[in-house]
Amino acid sequence: PIQACLFDLDGVLVDTAKYHFLAWKRLADELGFEFTENDNERLKGVSRMASLDILLSVGNVQLDEETKIALAEKKNNWYVDYISKMDASEILPGSLAFLQELKERGIKIALGSASKNAMTILNNANLVPYFDAIIDGTKTSNAKPDPEVFVLGAQEVQVDPEHCVVFEDAEAGIEAAIRAGMRSIGIGSADTLTQAEYVVSSLAEMSVEKLQQIMSNK
Ligand code: G6P
Ligand code: MG
Repeated sequence: PIQACLFDLDGVLVDTAKYHFLAWKRLADELGFEFTENDNERLKGVSRMASLDILLSVGNVQLDEETKIALAEKKNNWYVDYISKMDASEILPGSLAFLQELKERGIKIALGSASKNAMTILNNANLVPYFDAIIDGTKTSNAKPDPEVFVLGAQEVQVDPEHCVVFEDAEAGIEAAIRAGMRSIGIGSADTLTQAEYVVSSLAEMSVEKLQQIMSNK
């Protein structure tokens, strides 16, 4: 049986993927090239600097390291500005009910996010009290698809990987779960999340009963 649920943050619990996109698009605009929502899919779950590299490759732009660091900081300042105005209304549908049910059933809850801004978001959305462990971009050195973020989360809640399930909207995150030896549920479309064991369009489709059902089918 599942003893711990590990959640990605952006695009799983909160609707922040749109702010990442807006900030990256603003940067691409400044640099003078087109950056579409389709291009943005490749940035999901990817660290800030790696995201910038992908963005620059879309625009066919080459820059030195110092300029790249400055641009990443610029993007982050815009992003921080967007999320500083966030509140609980930007929690994605079904998240709160599912977290509440997990808590009541004694299933551990951990965050596994690449973001260095995770605490700001959790605080603004009043989500902190749900978590038994919070692992974010300030605590990891290897980005997804490296399993580090989920391995640390499982350790902190003291649950073996085989009893953990990861909820992710990014392919890199599903891969990280698999590499951690954990079960996985994709949030989004089965067309992009091809490696996930099961895919739902949002956590609104999830309940503890359904989770145990899905997980016992393998
Ligand atoms: C998450 C998001 C990515 C973002 C990364 C780093 O994984 O899905 O789009 O680039 O976190 O976020 P940060 O807030 O540290 O720039
Ligand atoms: Mg995500």
